[in-house]
Amino acid sequence: MWSAGCSTGEEPYSIAITLLENVPSDWDIKILATDLDTNVLRTASDGVYTEDRVSDLPEETLKQWFMRGKSSQAGQVKVRSQLQQIIQFKQLNLMQDWPMKGQFDFIFCRNVLIYFDRETKTMLAKRYAQMLSSRSWLFIGHSESLNQLSNEFELVACTSYRKNT
Ligand SMILES: C[S@@+](CC[C@H](N)C(=O)[O-])C[C@H]1O[C@@H](n2cnc3c(N)ncnc32)[C@H](O)[C@@H]1O
Repeated sequence: MWSAGCSTGEEPYSIAITLLENVPSDWDIKILATDLDTNVLRTASDGVYTEDRVSDLPEETLKQWFMRGKSSQAGQVKVRSQLQQIIQFKQLNLMQDWPMKGQFDFIFCRNVLIYFDRETKTMLAKRYAQMLSSRSWLFIGHSESLNQLSNEFELVACTSYRKNT
């Protein structure tokens, strides 16, 4: 799957946790996480967050997927390597060429379309459709919509779209 506009990594790590906790262990899960901004990507790939960023997570989830910092790292958590192993962080400008060849089963592009004008959103929806395998999924943000931008997706739930063919 692809997290397009992953910012500091919360999105791809949350998806990785959800997948590892819910799909059969022999599934080959690979997540590509991209962003324009190399600074946020550095934070994302380090996977170190202050404890307040994860305070809403159940204690069991915290224990399983994060390590608590000690002494000079007190007050911080670091994601466990099992999560980092399935995520590849890369710099990518959505406005330029996309070098990926494979087809994705899911694309998350939450709270990214908001940056673009109507014409660009239409173009991005078309390009996302080309990158998805048949009947695969596109997730966008709660304040976003593909209404009147694309006829290649059906709306399944408020932020969840499925490719038509
Ligand atoms: C509001 S954040 C969304 C983060 C994440 N998807 C979420 O919902 O938690 C938007 C991200 O889009 C990235 N972005 C903006 N324009 C971009 C572009 N042209 N190409 C790639 N990423 C872009 C920004 O750098 C930022 O990290």
